[in-house]
Amino acid sequence: MSTIDYATKIPNNVNLAEDKTLQRALEHWQPEFLNWWQDMGPDGSHDHDVYLRTATSVDSAGWAQFGHVKMPEYRWGIFLNPAVADKKIGFGENLGRDAWQEVPGEHRANLRRIIVTQGDTEPASVEQQRHLGLTAPSQYDLRNLFQINVEEGRHLWAMVYLLHRYFGRDGREEAEALLHRNSGDQDNPRILGAFNEKTPDWLAFYMFTYFTDRDGKFQLSALAESAFDPLARTTKFMLTEEAHHMFVGESGISRVINRTCQVMNELKTDDPMKIRAAGVVDMGTLQRYLNFHYSVTIDLFGADESSNAAIFYNSGLKGRYEETKRDDDHRLQGQTYKVLGVQDGRLVEREVPMLNALNEVLRDDYIKDSIGGVNRWNKVIEKAGLPHRLVVPHKAFNRKIGALSNAKVSPDGQVVGEAEWAARERDWLPTAEDRAFVASLMGCVAEPGKFAGWIAPPPMGINKQAVDFEYVRFN
Ligand SMILES: [Fe+2]
Ligand SMILES: [Fe+2]
Repeated sequence: MSTIDYATKIPNNVNLAEDKTLQRALEHWQPEFLNWWQDMGPDGSHDHDVYLRTATSVDSAGWAQFGHVKMPEYRWGIFLNPAVADKKIGFGENLGRDAWQEVPGEHRANLRRIIVTQGDTEPASVEQQRHLGLTAPSQYDLRNLFQINVEEGRHLWAMVYLLHRYFGRDGREEAEALLHRNSGDQDNPRILGAFNEKTPDWLAFYMFTYFTDRDGKFQLSALAESAFDPLARTTKFMLTEEAHHMFVGESGISRVINRTCQVMNELKTDDPMKIRAAGVVDMGTLQRYLNFHYSVTIDLFGADESSNAAIFYNSGLKGRYEETKRDDDHRLQGQTYKVLGVQDGRLVEREVPMLNALNEVLRDDYIKDSIGGVNRWNKVIEKAGLPHRLVVPHKAFNRKIGALSNAKVSPDGQVVGEAEWAARERDWLPTAEDRAFVASLMGCVAEPGKFAGWIAPPPMGINKQAVDFEYVRFN
């Protein structure tokens, strides 16, 4: 069943009405979710009419409907990709056996942990972004922020459904806790580090949606291979929504670069002070923001060597990115993979069992994917006739997790001492002055079709609407 039932309190395509106990439990969680949205969702936005897309089916053709809605009235619901008949497990020691339609007892704790960890990131990013609406560079951008926010809310629903449906009482407790942890909260923080960082300005927002939502893409892709079929089906649909979030990040940075290059060419200068004085973001600041978001995000993949990663793969809980497209035995016993460490002040590679290195495998796939967009950003600079280029830093740079967390490594991959790090850090990571400068550019541009001076307009609007369409009606 791919059509979504919108006649019920909770839109769904999982025949919720047939399971009254589950339906009641979710209807009990729903007002708590709405309370959380009121308190922690986009600041000051609750009465605005926002031009949002809502899922109407999970079919790839025409799954979305667009229209102005007040966000608290958005129809959050439960949408799974259709079941594949006779689905088999695609990797690990259970390769070729029937996929699981219920949770096997021996994997219950691990699966719950995986679902809770993924679920926790969804409301976390809404919390991180909750003040951005007050300083949006345009209506178009404001609408995109809100679209991402409601979809992250829906991703939370996706995970909460699994917790309620398959994990009984523990699942219900975990679903409550997802609304009680808060990003950056000293006493009750979100589970993963990057989701407790601030997203203080729109440059950070675009970097976050480019880099950190892409972590989401890779985690969801790995879970879309899971032997636990309901998890695979729900994450597959989440991926279609995730694609838009990364588009907002990539096109956002591209437009910032575009505007900066225009000003650099007009003024015929690459002096950061002159560029800043003209009200656009200088290339150095862009590079430092990129370094920060990239390094914080690659930590999300976890330790380079991990026995948990081996267990998750062996038992079929979490596959690799594009597992089914890979041309190997999908068991990986006896295979090795190279991971980086520091020895005698140098970075050295060593071979470790591949099963233990699957976090690193996923991180490396992520790195390849994220470089693609950075190259497209460089094309914008090249087209403007300027020599500057943005680069992703070395993967050992600014790491806080895994074997590289003990080393100080420069963006170009040189191991440096504490003193050199301290002296150069301000060239490599955003400084307080950088952040204050970017903050000084932020200010709400509310008129349709108008854009803040630090960002170029997009080449086209949303859903074939004009760029100056009224994407948000302020109430
Ligand atoms: Fe998400
Ligand atoms: Fe996302």
